[in-house]
Amino acid sequence: MTTPAAFQPLTAQNIQRALSTRTFGRTLHVLAEVPSTNTAAAAWAQEQAPHGAVVVAECQTAGRGRLGRHWHSPSGNNLYCSVLLRTMPAREQQPLWFSWIPLLAALAVTRAVQVVGGLKPSVKWPNDILVGDRKLGGILCESSGVGTAHAVVVVGVGVNVNLREDELPDELRPIATSLMIEARQPFDRAALLATLLLELETRCDSFLAGRHGDIFEEYMLRCSTIGRRVRIELAHGEQMDGTAESIQADGSLRIIREDRTIVDVRTGDVVHLR
Ligand code: BTN
Repeated sequence: MTTPAAFQPLTAQNIQRALSTRTFGRTLHVLAEVPSTNTAAAAWAQEQAPHGAVVVAECQTAGRGRLGRHWHSPSGNNLYCSVLLRTMPAREQQPLWFSWIPLLAALAVTRAVQVVGGLKPSVKWPNDILVGDRKLGGILCESSGVGTAHAVVVVGVGVNVNLREDELPDELRPIATSLMIEARQPFDRAALLATLLLELETRCDSFLAGRHGDIFEEYMLRCSTIGRRVRIELAHGEQMDGTAESIQADGSLRIIREDRTIVDVRTGDVVHLR
């Protein structure tokens, strides 16, 4: 008897069979265990890995989240991958491109989860992937060589796929979820990765071709932060409460504070308040 696709290990063959991208994932490293796929991809970039190269691992021993957090990365049932982006727009467009990469990556992940998993996740600004109020996945973008001809961005994506509720650590159980917990069935991780890479490639192409409006509109529709009362946790333990009003052209989040002052937040952690 053959193992159902949902329970098969991630192999280069399974992934490449499912791929329909032009470039993304065509150069691929599949690893059993790695400290962090983002670190591995950044090291590979130093050795001239091409645009669209992907590192994927069954397990991370030092998975990293945003704002210096740890990313829970047990073996065999989730998706941990990093995509290298080298293509850059003209110099004057680069700040906009760097600010939008994390947001368009979140759109690619939500769309891939919808196509493969039949769920409709939302995005908590800037790039947390939520089902209801629980976190299904996250994105960590890291860049180097910005402003030079060798600029590279690593887009790291973690999605909880076939993780069971009892496999979540106690502190994550109330706030995290997986595709299997939500849909009550396991999913083929190679198909999810291939779809994610196609959705990411399409959106990168679209943005680089100047179709910013399409991405902006899609983000506004997907973002569950807009219209909500939020707490922004800023650096140095500072906090700010208000209502999330909209996304600005540069990807920042516009907050209207209780005293009606307007603040555009570029980085920070958002808590959706009740
Ligand atoms: C977050 O929501 O805090 C971002 C989580 C990003 C996790 C992914 S898993 C693959 C890649 N490698 C890492 O070390 N982190 C990202």
